[in-house]
Amino acid sequence: MKKTVIVSSPGKLIIGGEHAVVYGRRALVTSIGMRLYMQLSTVDSADKRTLDVFFHDTNTRHTVDPSGPADAHAIEIQGVLRVYDHYKSSLSEKDSLAMEVRSEIPIGAGLGSSAAFSVCLVGCFHLLCHEKLPAEEINQLAYQVECLFHGTPSGIDNTISTFGQSLVYSRTLKRHLSFRLSNLAIIDTGIPKSTKRMVGLVRDYVDAHPEEGEAILNEIEGCVDRMIDHPEEVDELFQRNQDLLKRLGVSIPEIDRIVEILLQRNISTKITGAGGGGCLIALTSTFTKEKLFELLNGNPIKSIEFVECGVEGLREETAFSEQST
Ligand code: MEV
Repeated sequence: MKKTVIVSSPGKLIIGGEHAVVYGRRALVTSIGMRLYMQLSTVDSADKRTLDVFFHDTNTRHTVDPSGPADAHAIEIQGVLRVYDHYKSSLSEKDSLAMEVRSEIPIGAGLGSSAAFSVCLVGCFHLLCHEKLPAEEINQLAYQVECLFHGTPSGIDNTISTFGQSLVYSRTLKRHLSFRLSNLAIIDTGIPKSTKRMVGLVRDYVDAHPEEGEAILNEIEGCVDRMIDHPEEVDELFQRNQDLLKRLGVSIPEIDRIVEILLQRNISTKITGAGGGGCLIALTSTFTKEKLFELLNGNPIKSIEFVECGVEGLREETAFSEQST
């Protein structure tokens, strides 16, 4: 068994089809050049086995007794314990475990930070115990961790973080695409959102208005199919997808205002991920980051980044990250 393993996996952007994908429709998703890094080491334990988890970004440490009750802990530690349980029979009785996490993906912004965490978590344990990273197997267990975090997610976030590149995804389909967008800006409103809550809101809407709900979900899937067949139309399809998301109830006035301002400059913008806050995406070759900040002055904007799309999924690393050396 290895003593220390390091893995990383990417965040994601849903280009089209969020929420509708929960109802079995197709969505278009791409991985992005922001990654989460995780290191897992076995450490000799003098006495009782402990599990130590250190989050560099928040400078928080959790030291837990892995044989104790999981639900006494924060949700991310419950996730760690869930995966630990799965692998514990392959771990030596004498060893304690030390985990470190560092992420470039903003938390709770719709960019797949929790899925990258789930995928790396399973990846680390699997690599430590079995010295390989079988993507399909890791993805399935990562989905279980995502269910613990979010209820009944579609599985799109963990799948793209595991496999990377770009995908057409539904609950029954996973097809790789050579789909790449350049000039894609991520606009982070900094407004916190909860995926679970937004998925619940859409559920309420669809239950209360089954006919309209189904029609909107079908129209969203139509948008996605058109994006795949006609990538040159993605720009205008962002607008259509955004209007449909708004009808499902996942936009908020702050987002509507940003979308409206950018539309006046012929930039079409949409929510990416669950909505209710979080991030928007826009395609623009004419506006720089500084110019976008200027246009959106006075609106809630935490950051604007142009990102690389279609990157590698889960992989083993030789260093925890540049800063750690
Ligand atoms: C969250 O990234 C995407 C949603 O469609 C939820 C899901 O697919 O599970 C809102």
